[in-house]
Amino acid sequence: MCGIVAYTGPGDAVPILTEGLARLEYRGYDSAGLAVVGRSGDLRVRKAAGRVAALAASLPARFKGGTGIGHTRWATHGEPSDDNAHPHVAGTVAVVHNGIIENADELRAKLQADGVVLASETDSEVLPHLIARSAAAELEDAVREALSQIVGTYGIAVVDTRHPGVLVVARNGSPVVLGIGEKEMYAASDVAALVRYTRQVVHLDDGELATIRPDGFRTSTLDARATRKEPSVIETEDAAYDAEGYTHFMRKEIHEQPAAVERALRGRLDGRFHTAHLGGLELDPREARAIRRIKILGCGSAYYAGQVGAQLIEELARIPADAEPASEFRYRNPVVEADTLYIAVSQSGETYDTLAAVQELRRKGGRVLGVVNAVGSAIARECDGGIYLHAGPEIAVASTKAYTSTAVVFALLALHLGRIHDLSPADGRRIAEGLRALPGQIEEILRQEDRIAALAADLAKYRSMLFVGRVRGWPVAREGAQKLKEVSYIHAEAYPASELKHGPLALISPDLPAVAIVPDDELLDKNRSTLGEIRARHGRVITIGHTDAGEDSVVVPKNEPELDAILLPIPLQLLAYHAAVALDHDVDKPRNLAKSVTVD
Ligand code: F6R
Repeated sequence: MCGIVAYTGPGDAVPILTEGLARLEYRGYDSAGLAVVGRSGDLRVRKAAGRVAALAASLPARFKGGTGIGHTRWATHGEPSDDNAHPHVAGTVAVVHNGIIENADELRAKLQADGVVLASETDSEVLPHLIARSAAAELEDAVREALSQIVGTYGIAVVDTRHPGVLVVARNGSPVVLGIGEKEMYAASDVAALVRYTRQVVHLDDGELATIRPDGFRTSTLDARATRKEPSVIETEDAAYDAEGYTHFMRKEIHEQPAAVERALRGRLDGRFHTAHLGGLELDPREARAIRRIKILGCGSAYYAGQVGAQLIEELARIPADAEPASEFRYRNPVVEADTLYIAVSQSGETYDTLAAVQELRRKGGRVLGVVNAVGSAIARECDGGIYLHAGPEIAVASTKAYTSTAVVFALLALHLGRIHDLSPADGRRIAEGLRALPGQIEEILRQEDRIAALAADLAKYRSMLFVGRVRGWPVAREGAQKLKEVSYIHAEAYPASELKHGPLALISPDLPAVAIVPDDELLDKNRSTLGEIRARHGRVITIGHTDAGEDSVVVPKNEPELDAILLPIPLQLLAYHAAVALDHDVDKPRNLAKSVTVD
């Protein structure tokens, strides 16, 4: 998705903006641009389709300025091109915009009827024109006037040569974070662009606007009421945003999983009562007992991790629980029940569909907890309480460590709720010990990487693959198929193993290998008979489970059966990664995908 960086201060904005944009590349983009106000008060703009490095290399030495805005664009309205790249300019005003302006056609037509010549096909270009046409004396008021005409979502940053040293930023559905420096200020759509310069940040809320000068900032609502913001401190180290010797972030993040799981568990297991403590839950035992149902919402891999969570909660706490894509839930006028606990899952904390589902729930009086990785993100702030993953920044588009940490956090929540309900101390201890064993067991799986890579290179020759699993193995199969298609572009379909004979068995042939999730649990015999049905139809079967079935099998260490869905996806992450590498794909930036989907 698009990225924004902005700076105002005594330094040269240009290297800060290009470095910041490079830090946002992981989100996916097709073009980039900068606008700076030169020390002599002129506006300098450079933008082009293509990479940030090429843009930076093309800048002449005199391209300097003390205040500036930068952007990486992920095309929505109009193809990737130099003209469609941001910033967009009208007279003295330059704007970068993330989000989608829904009434852009109407606004473009109005501007054109007034004789304005538009230089791009974008929705965003209306913004600088609306701002430049305002008669307001303050840039902030001109931006406010322009935004009052906009229907849609935005994160914006604006400069105007008539207001040297001033940046105005605003947020509605697309993140904006201010960074506080020493007599210099920053803003960005993602803290990744700021950590190199400052640790002190302020997250804007939807409907908020900020005027930023080198010596400080003030925030207000769109209707000009002042707001108070407390800065928070970013804990993540700058190095977490570097590949640190790995060829791809995806592989680095797969290998970070033992440490990420340790962080997710740290300080949360209680050896006395064999339960879990989750500080941010804001739910006392009486309230927890009153919960009759749990509904988990997320998108993509966050949804699949939520499905694992729902199963864990049902198994350990015996509370009816299910997961649903947040992207569907928000559009179906959901019935919101007072005794249902809603849980929103998101790595980025900015996924628009999930945020919109949370907002709809809160509007209807629903109680929502967040299971979120990005501290201070919109979803985290919108929820009534929550649990952070502490997985560290996830840069690769394909989610790996955040998926695993989410499943671990759900195991902790299920243990906590289970011990409030009927889970015995002995079972509580058994699950807690199982959780403590996970980091070491993930290491064991990672040590099999060479074997899995060889298997992946062989599987990369197929055009399509089937993933099957039963009950605990079903979300694992879905996540495995998701990972494979995202990065290798091999078509992959996941099916519950129990449903094969109700249709998809017709597809089985030597050309369609099936990856089967077969843990050694109470369903092992059932799964074996499904594999027999596939093999009888000459289908190749690759098993992921606890039994060594030769070359076409990957064995994961045994833990408690309830926790199987945490370990079993890890070989599938490696399989997807190495299939993509064998096919020579840009693993961290898969085609058509962006890291965090902040648009509607
Ligand atoms: C899959 C993937 C996506 C995300 C989804 C939700 O590898 O990365 O499916 O899981 O877009 O993103 P978050 O968790 O940031 O809300």
